[in-house]
Amino acid sequence: MAVTIRLYISLVLLSGLGTSHFLINPLRNNRKRSLPDTVVDGIEIYSTKINCKVTSRFAHNVVTTRAVNRADTAKEVSFDVELPKTAFITNFTMTIDGVTYPGNVKEKEVAKKQYEKAVSQGKTAGLVKASGRKLEKFTVSVNVAAGSKVTFELTYEELLKRHKGKYEMYIKVQPKQLINHFEIVADIYEPQGIKELNADVSFITNDLMNVLTKSFSGKKGHVSFKPSFDQQRSCPTCSTSLLNGDFIITYDVNREQPGNVQIVNGYFVHFFAPQNLPIVPKNVVFVIDISGSMSGRKLAQTKDALLHILNDVKEDDFLNFILFSSDVTVWKENMVQATPENLKEARNFVENMQTAGLTNINDGLLKGIEMVNRAREMGILLDRSTSIIIMLTDGEANTGESRVDKIQENVKNAIGGKFPLYNLGFGHDVNYNFLEKMALENHGVARRIYEDSDANLQMQGFYDEVANPLLIDVDLQYPQNAISDVTQNNYQHFYDGSEIVVAGKVVDLESNSFVADVKGHGALNDLTFTEEVDMKEMEEALKEQEYIFGDYIERLWAYLTIEQLLEKRKNAEGEEKENLTAQALDLSLKYHFVTPLTSMVVTKPEDNEETQSIADKPGEDATQLNYQPPSNPYYFVDGDPHFIIEVPEKDDALCFNIDAQPGVVLNLIQDPDTGITVNGEIIGEKKASSEPNKNKSYFGKLGIVALQMDLQVEVTPQRITLWSGGRKSSFTWMDTVTITQNGLSVTINRKKNMVVSIGDGVTFVIVLHQVWKKHPIHQDFLGLYTVDSHRMSTKTHGLLGQFFHPFDFEVFDVRPGSDPKKPDATMIVKNHKLTVTRGSQKDYRKDSGQGTKVFCWFVHDNGSGLIDGVHTDYIVPDLFYHSPIQS
Ligand SMILES: *[C@@H]1O[C@H](CO)[C@@H](O)[C@H](O)[C@H]1NC(C)=O
Ligand SMILES: *[C@@H]1O[C@H](CO)[C@@H](O)[C@H](O)[C@H]1NC(C)=O
Ligand SMILES: *[C@@H]1O[C@H](CO)[C@@H](O)[C@H](O)[C@H]1NC(C)=O
Ligand SMILES: *[C@@H]1O[C@H](CO)[C@@H](O)[C@H](O)[C@H]1NC(C)=O
Repeated sequence: MAVTIRLYISLVLLSGLGTSHFLINPLRNNRKRSLPDTVVDGIEIYSTKINCKVTSRFAHNVVTTRAVNRADTAKEVSFDVELPKTAFITNFTMTIDGVTYPGNVKEKEVAKKQYEKAVSQGKTAGLVKASGRKLEKFTVSVNVAAGSKVTFELTYEELLKRHKGKYEMYIKVQPKQLINHFEIVADIYEPQGIKELNADVSFITNDLMNVLTKSFSGKKGHVSFKPSFDQQRSCPTCSTSLLNGDFIITYDVNREQPGNVQIVNGYFVHFFAPQNLPIVPKNVVFVIDISGSMSGRKLAQTKDALLHILNDVKEDDFLNFILFSSDVTVWKENMVQATPENLKEARNFVENMQTAGLTNINDGLLKGIEMVNRAREMGILLDRSTSIIIMLTDGEANTGESRVDKIQENVKNAIGGKFPLYNLGFGHDVNYNFLEKMALENHGVARRIYEDSDANLQMQGFYDEVANPLLIDVDLQYPQNAISDVTQNNYQHFYDGSEIVVAGKVVDLESNSFVADVKGHGALNDLTFTEEVDMKEMEEALKEQEYIFGDYIERLWAYLTIEQLLEKRKNAEGEEKENLTAQALDLSLKYHFVTPLTSMVVTKPEDNEETQSIADKPGEDATQLNYQPPSNPYYFVDGDPHFIIEVPEKDDALCFNIDAQPGVVLNLIQDPDTGITVNGEIIGEKKASSEPNKNKSYFGKLGIVALQMDLQVEVTPQRITLWSGGRKSSFTWMDTVTITQNGLSVTINRKKNMVVSIGDGVTFVIVLHQVWKKHPIHQDFLGLYTVDSHRMSTKTHGLLGQFFHPFDFEVFDVRPGSDPKKPDATMIVKNHKLTVTRGSQKDYRKDSGQGTKVFCWFVHDNGSGLIDGVHTDYIVPDLFYHSPIQS
């Protein structure tokens, strides 16, 4: 039942750290190899150590890398660590030539200002991005003088959660070069005793088997992996490393007792996972999206998963299927028992599922909930059974009730807290925040199903986790007067293979014994488990262990409390939200956790005022800008289509406007050499203005064609569609995602902007402008920014493209205009003499809400005189219209 908190971290270095050269360039791929093999591109990484200490599931990991610049010029050294999304970074230090720059955790807003300042100075050093399903990547690069040494040390902590009977520690190994001293060492201390311990290494070879050791005995477990320099070679004569993949340590503890309580330094933790209880019969309703977008592989995988799940359903279970698209259909009018005949019929039903139509999440869920409620009322279900609803969707609600807050309200009212709702979000088009909030509000969790060849296994895997409830309505109770600040202590279900963890403060340290009672309803009867510990004895026993880091329970408590506060915050509003935020922030600062509310700031030791670098971890709703806008030059079109042309030679800009009727498609960029074309379709307002010349128009659709890549991209304020080699994929603005293939890279920054890079040297940013949905006049529209065009040929044309080549203009005779704040002037450009007016337009790349002002000379009459020909010459018949490649 782990709930994934998505975290992003970025690290910015400001200038003036040690030496003055702290500018960071992207890591180059074309590393030049020089002898010896330890030195790659001048840099020798002579040591990398990954040190993990786990005490009672609480993992403390330290990654240390030491490098020296063997070249005779300054070089860049990069440090990359992929860490679990569920972990919090707690420390980062950098030591250059013996001088240590320590990290401090600060409130996000304070740190953000410094971050923005650094970004505006173009000094981004690195960042952490979501990386794969479970990990995120922390990256930092630093320029190191010739002969200098640098040490990076990153610490992160995590509470390992039990899934399917195991705790799992996931370490990504990817050193990229041979390293003299490479090691992974994990020490595990579990007071309950270790039952099994394994290490799975995805890149293991027979030779490497010899340097992987794992052992456990009693309470201690140990894993180590120390490949020698030669053992790291991908072949005997290779200078590349074969260490590349996953290093996964899994273990479980003894469970002679249903629970275990530990108390150290005034904090307690209670682990609860009773074994060998009979399984509680369950009533499962699968609410499955069969809208049109589920067709093809998604449907096949869903069927496959459901068929496997049907094989595992117990005969005592009851089930039903609700299918939703534009309408809702049910398999059976009422819940039915999983008899062999019914299962056979169910398989047949699943095999015949077909997709069509839109996505009516609201009606699908309400039908499923009604099904359970009615069965309960009619007495169809077994007395001691429990119910769950599992909903799977691959998109956003777009028919019936489509307001997410309304759906949430309907669902919450219908369920009334009686049973959990689990939401599975399939692929990138879902509104995951909504699915997560709704699940959390109804005692369930949401899970992402990644669109991949194993999507069916992901769905089955989720089902396995909730397939075997052993207890329902679990209530963990502690002596009222002896404790405070307890984490969540009631759960609707305890599932086989999982574990309930509760932590808190012990206020009555005088008392000798500590009693924990756990009450729950089992399959056959109501149960109470009592755990009694002798506090003094316990404290002595645990303190004796030098092995452990003394405050682990306190940190575990802080981790769990922050995690739960952040989760609660997702559905909170107003004062309550502020309160939860304040509490989570306080704890994050106190315990040095980089959470979505805090940032890591690295300061220069001799000058604590001056911030040198920031590890920033925006939350899910935080702004994310994954690209660096180059300062000059730029060309863009945004707003009521206003074209802005920067002329760096003049340190000035020109602008013009095109009035065209809705539906007209204009060619913006056209390069016959690279085969890149960008067209835009005009939209108007929702309601036309009665005043003459007040009809505003915008770009409502952009089409990008890259002929040499057989690529087309269509962007609207709703959707982003890619056709690549005839294959179509489609995304919404609800997600943050990066798509890369064959030199193309598309990054969608949820609800903000998208960055399209075609090959090396062509980058566009498309900014989404969303207006209030019920706005009587305005509608959503797009802006297009060319931030890199250096690979485009001199033949490039189009309303924007014709200005990519250097050109000149002259302005003189500045005089008062009709608006006193906007002077007129005379301009000579392209052999025309024009009257222009000083004005300003807005650049929305950094801030899509407010924008930043850009001053420019406005050319009247649809840009006439400035643009080649007349504006109607640029009208093209459709969004993907382009001329053939000329070679
Ligand atoms: C961070 O790491 C450094 C280097 O190991 C250490 O000196 C410092 O005490 C750590 N800070 C915290 C808050 O743990
Ligand atoms: C805010 O938190 C405090 C405890 O820190 C609590 O006493 C108070 O009732 C909370 N207020 C709201 C509105 O939740
Ligand atoms: C404004 O647009 C509407 C249609 O969108 C059109 O009927 C009307 O003529 C336009 N008005 C002016 C003044 O261009
Ligand atoms: C701009 O072009 C449109 C037609 O596309 C025309 O209706 C309008 O009058 C022109 N505006 C000016 C100021 O020339």
